[in-house]
Parts: sequence; C-alpha cells; structure tokens
Amino acid sequence: MATTTNGRPTASGSSTPSPAPTIDSPAALIADLEKRLAKAEAEARRWHRAHDRVQSTFPVRAARVTRRTLRSLSGRRSASTATPARAADAQAPAAPSATPAAPRFPNEETNARRMEIFDHLLATLPKGKIVDLGAGHGHFSVRAADAGWSVTAADARTVRFQSDPRVEWVHSDVRNFDVEPYDVILCLGLFYHLTLEDQLNLLRRWAGRPLIIDTHLDTGQERPDLTATRVTIDGYEGRYYGENLESALASWENTESFWPTVPSFRRMLAEAGFKVVLEVAPWYLIDRTFFLALPSPAATAESGE
Ligand SMILES: C[S@@+](CC[C@H](N)C(=O)[O-])C[C@H]1O[C@@H](n2cnc3c(N)ncnc32)[C@H](O)[C@@H]1O
Repeated sequence: MATTTNGRPTASGSSTPSPAPTIDSPAALIADLEKRLAKAEAEARRWHRAHDRVQSTFPVRAARVTRRTLRSLSGRRSASTATPARAADAQAPAAPSATPAAPRFPNEETNARRMEIFDHLLATLPKGKIVDLGAGHGHFSVRAADAGWSVTAADARTVRFQSDPRVEWVHSDVRNFDVEPYDVILCLGLFYHLTLEDQLNLLRRWAGRPLIIDTHLDTGQERPDLTATRVTIDGYEGRYYGENLESALASWENTESFWPTVPSFRRMLAEAGFKVVLEVAPWYLIDRTFFLALPSPAATAESGE
C-alpha cells in the first residue's frame, strides 16, 4: 500500500502524485480539456465499434458452433442407433432436433413434406369446422375439404385464393377474425409474420380448441432477414424479422415480426392455455416445423365443447 512520509496511506493510493499540467489561461485550459474530451470520445467510439462487432456476429458464430456440434453428435448417434441428437444435448441456443439435415429454404420436397405432416396431424382430430388463418394460396384449406372438413379460409390478401366452392373464402385481417364457431384452428406460415403483441393476443383468443401451427422460430440460424441481436421482451426471447410488404406472402401491416426462440414459443403457448404441445420432428426446415397445440380438458369443458 502507498503511504505518506508519516506512514499514513495517501487518499489516491499513489505516493507521488503526478504534477498537474501547467495551464496559462482559461482559453488554454478549455483548449486542453477539448483535446482530452475528443481523445476520450474517439476511444469510446472504438470500444463501441468493437462491442457491436462482437454483439452482431455472436448468434452467427454460436450457430456455427452448434451446427458443428450437432453434426458430430448425430454422426456418433446414428452409428450407435440411438435417438437423433437434440438441442439440449449440445447446449444449443434452442436448436431443434435433427436440424443439420434439414434444408434452410423451402423446396418441392419440403412443400410435399408439409402436406404430408398436415394430413397426419389433421387425421388425429375429430372432423368438424376448421379455419385456415392466413390461408394464402389455400392449398391446406382445399386439402382439409378433401378430408371431409367444413372449411373457412381467411386472409388479408385475396389474390391467391382459389375458387373451390367447398371452401368459404373470407377476406379478413386475422387479428379481427372471430374463431368462436370453429373446432380447430390452422395457423400455417402466419405466426412468424406477426408482432409479439399480436402473437400473444391471438394465442389467448384461440385457446380452448386445438391449434395446428407451422412456423419459423429463432434457432440461432444465419438469416440476413433476421436481426442478428437477440432481444428479450417481457421475458420472451427472440429476434426480429424484416417484412417485405410488397410480397403476397408477407405480413399484412407490420414491417417487423417476431420470431421467438423455442422455449419462449412454448412458454407463450402454455400461458395461453395450450397445455399439451406436440412438436413434429425432424423439422422440415432448419428453423421451422409444425406443432399441434392442445388445450387442457378443463379449458375445453369451460368453453362448452
Ligand atoms: C407465408 S403465407 C402462408 C400461406 C399458407 N398458409 C401456407 O402456409 O403456405 C402468409 C399469409 O399470411 C397472410 N397474412 C399475413 N398477415 C396477415 C394478417 N394480419 N391477416 C390476414 N392474413 C395475413 C398473407 O397475406 C399471406 O397470404
């Protein structure tokens, strides 16, 4: 410890304080302070830039490490015929099972796989009235009609609607759509075009009946249309997706939508009353799959169904 000549510690901890710079006039003092301030600002900017670089590339780097880990895990496991690698095994940022094998973008094969999954999920439910929210091209609506369901297709854009008379085609913003008359809700390719606020509101309104939901989630993947930085809002983690409102596939009004992480998505469903959630694995895209979300029997009884 630094001490004075009489043995007591100095206030600054330094035995010989460095001499203050000699300043001859107030103008010189100001000039000197401005020089120091500019230097400090430049230093701060350098730190910010370095920090931003680390922040913005972190999910990308994390995803690379995760993918490598999952690849090596699934290689090892397939050799020993064990179950496919799961995210938790690799401490991944909520990456889904068998992700490395799944393509990043849809193609003919994944579109066919969507239909196949859809058919299977639908077949588990007793036939009744079903609504396809954000129906778009209406392929799933028509498929449900083929399977004997009474179908309504709703979308804020009607350009891609079909003319199948078995389906009721409704021009509507799903955020104002009354789902009360329906036994089952379809939310296919729509959820990830909504804001967090809309997602929470809609899940609450949809609760009480089975929900088939097919959505992208934030699994730490590299995508130029997703912000690199993960955000936490009211405890829900995820990333923002920039909408291109010119596209017929985009959100209706919001320029950004929210892609929750898998745990946050599951939490959202649970809080809305979907107590049993079945996840379709393997995921058909690197960051996208179907879920069948079921209300608790109590909620179903309360709603009189
Ligand atoms: C990616 S497409 C999905 C189409 C189809 N359901 C599928 O899974 O292939 C998204 C659809 O959601 C519709 N959409 C987005 N936001 C909407 C909103 N707030 N209300 C109604 N439709 C909306 C778009 O117009 C578009 O047709």
